[in-house]
Order: sequence, then C-alpha cells, then structure tokens
Amino acid sequence: MSQVHLIDHPLVQHKLTLMRRKDASTTSFRRLLRELAALMAYELTRDMPMHDVEIETPMETTQAKLIDGKKLVLVSILRAGTGLLDGMLDVVPGARVGHVGLYRDPKTLTAVEYYFKLPPDMAERDVIVLDPMLATGNSAIAAVERVREVGPRSIKFCCLLGCPEGVAAFHGAHPDVPIYTAAIDRQLNDHGYILPGLGDAGDRIFGTK
Ligand code: URA
Repeated sequence: MSQVHLIDHPLVQHKLTLMRRKDASTTSFRRLLRELAALMAYELTRDMPMHDVEIETPMETTQAKLIDGKKLVLVSILRAGTGLLDGMLDVVPGARVGHVGLYRDPKTLTAVEYYFKLPPDMAERDVIVLDPMLATGNSAIAAVERVREVGPRSIKFCCLLGCPEGVAAFHGAHPDVPIYTAAIDRQLNDHGYILPGLGDAGDRIFGTK
C-alpha cells in the first residue's frame, strides 16, 4: 500500500466522521465535502512545481514563488466526483476541469462510459482524478485508463473513502498512480458498497434519495 497516501489530519478525520452519520443533512454533507476537498487539496498539491517571479512589496522588490494552477486538471468522475470539485477549486481557482461520465452497471458493477471531455495540451498538465468512493475500483480504473490515453505529465487519484478490495484492484491496473484518501474502510459488501462507509455518495451530495 506504499502508493496510498492516507490523509489523517484531525480536521479531515473530524469532518469525515460527521459526514458518515446517516442523519447528516444534504446541506451539511455537501458543505463538509467541500471543506474536506479543500483540506485534501493541500496534500495533493504538496509537490506541485513552482516558479520564481519578481514582485514589488510595499517595501521593496523581491523574488517570490507562484504555482501554475492552469497546469493542474481536476477530472471529475460523474456524478459524485463533482462533490469534490468546488472545495479544490476554492484553493486552486486556476485549475482546469475535465469530466468523465461513467455509470455502474447495476448487474455487473462494471463501468460504462457516456461522456469524456478534457482540456487541450494535456502533455504539459498534471491530473487529479476525483471520485469520493473507491469501491470496486471499476470506475476509477476506467477513468484513469481514458485519462492515460491523452498522455498527461502525471496522474493522481483522490477519493474520500476506499476499501482494501478497491485499492488492490486499482493498483493492479495502475500501480504507478498514487491514491490520496481520508480513510480505507473495512470491506466491500456484495452490492459494491463500502462498509462502514457513508452510503451512496452521489445520493447524499445531491439529495436524490
Ligand atoms: N459508491 C458509493 O457512493 N458508495 C459506496 O459505498 C460505494 C460506491
């Protein structure tokens, strides 16, 4: 599991606990996810390249550092990945955004693609693929496969929750892609849901159940 970055900061863990509760409202679930995504973005962007610029402070001219936010592409796996987008954009507002539309076939649990749109010039960009739940791993594997085809400079995968089965499947397919997560839960159940988990992330974000 060397490629798994567990983000165990107390603020992240606290907010995750509040989100797991079944009586958390849609409003608070969504707000907590946004806050959590912003906190996770700190860890995900830790090694982002920076460049020097000359600036004028009110006191003097100095050399200072900037990141190039436009080089970062946040790729949301629809629809639940969208829940992580706003919080990340709060802290990297210049990031570009891509979308991969996948749904889980309820019988086979495999990922079926219905939409794919990324910015141009991907060879000079770093990608973070977003999906709150790494469950069977099928959607994450399929999304990263598609992103790989356009040849970005680097790829990371970010989820809120994973499970041992999802991590093993993902790293079986993409051993070089690091996973950033707030927790690895106990197991997957027979319906492809994470235990103890937090239920259906999409339904909880959008209030569709
Ligand atoms: N997707 C979810 O939203 N929740 C799970 O537990 C697994 C997959």
